[in-house]
Amino acid sequence: MTDSSANTTVWDTKTQQFHGGQDWKFLHNFVEDFSVTTNWLGTPVKALKAARDAIDTCHHYPPADQEPAKSSLAAWIWPEQWKANKDRLLLGNGASELIDLVIRSAPTGSWKAGPWDVQYKEYQRSAETNGRNVLSPKSDDKADAWILNHVQDNGVVVIDESMQIWVGPDFRQDSMTAQAEFMEKTFRERNISIYVIHSWTKIWSCTGLRLGSIVCPTVTHCTKLKRIQVPWSVNSPALAFLDEVVRDTEYLEETWKLTSIYRAQLIERLQSLANGRPWEFFGKPYLSWVWIDLKDTETAEKAIAWAKEAGVPIRSGEPGYHRPTFVRIAVREPKKTDVLLAAWKNL
Ligand SMILES: Cc1ncc(COP(=O)(O)O)c(C=O)c1O
Repeated sequence: MTDSSANTTVWDTKTQQFHGGQDWKFLHNFVEDFSVTTNWLGTPVKALKAARDAIDTCHHYPPADQEPAKSSLAAWIWPEQWKANKDRLLLGNGASELIDLVIRSAPTGSWKAGPWDVQYKEYQRSAETNGRNVLSPKSDDKADAWILNHVQDNGVVVIDESMQIWVGPDFRQDSMTAQAEFMEKTFRERNISIYVIHSWTKIWSCTGLRLGSIVCPTVTHCTKLKRIQVPWSVNSPALAFLDEVVRDTEYLEETWKLTSIYRAQLIERLQSLANGRPWEFFGKPYLSWVWIDLKDTETAEKAIAWAKEAGVPIRSGEPGYHRPTFVRIAVREPKKTDVLLAAWKNL
């Protein structure tokens, strides 16, 4: 089907949470998907081949212990300490599965996003479908200070570090995964459970494979999640992909080297397109996306429609986030960005 309006029927909007990444299939002139925050480098080649090869084993069940992929990921997250930490790690069918597991397994009570209010909406959807009261977010504190100051004793905290890898080669030191002691102590002293979630579908551009992980505060917490997890939820190609991709250091080096350059160029070009209008740009310089406040709904609507017409769909700020003057675009190679900016020439 090539009807570009057909994607509006993809979501059961009364039941499901809107997400980017559905338009591409319906655009006859599709060039690039700017609506999802995947890595502009595309899927890592060796890992993709490993996933393809694993299809040949699809007449067998995947390993129930998620090995050896789980240990490989653990060794990548904690090169020195992976043996001590690996039993606190669980893989999932995308981070979305794990988000739902952890929210379902937490004691009853309210749910609150933070420190920012615009974030992956599956947290809220899962909280609502599990009957939680949703409180309003906001704060600028660092994660550990935020937890100690804002979370009640006996609370549950989920830190989403899916975009944190983009920070650069020092991402491990910057990550909550490096703070095993803090996680353990906060649990012991205040009974606060801190989980760290990763979606691997963005940094390694494999949204169709479905791959995520969760680091639990203790092994017991992980066992509790495993108990309610559907068996084999991560399939053989996804496990093979993960086992291979953690060895691809070149791919990440290229990501860290060029993403911030492409992003800075993108913002410069958008500023020039703004031509004095007060458009505002949001997001850290190393990230794979830019949120833009175009300051009026009509301009945002045109930006969305014209991008789609040109085969370069973007994410509207309206569905889910209720920010009708905002759009989000992914950082992409300059020649792909050219197509989007050409479509916006008369914006
Ligand atoms: C910050 C963040 N976390 C988690 C997810 C879930 O990703 P997935 O279920 O594809 O792993 C997303 C997807 O957009 C995301 O942006």
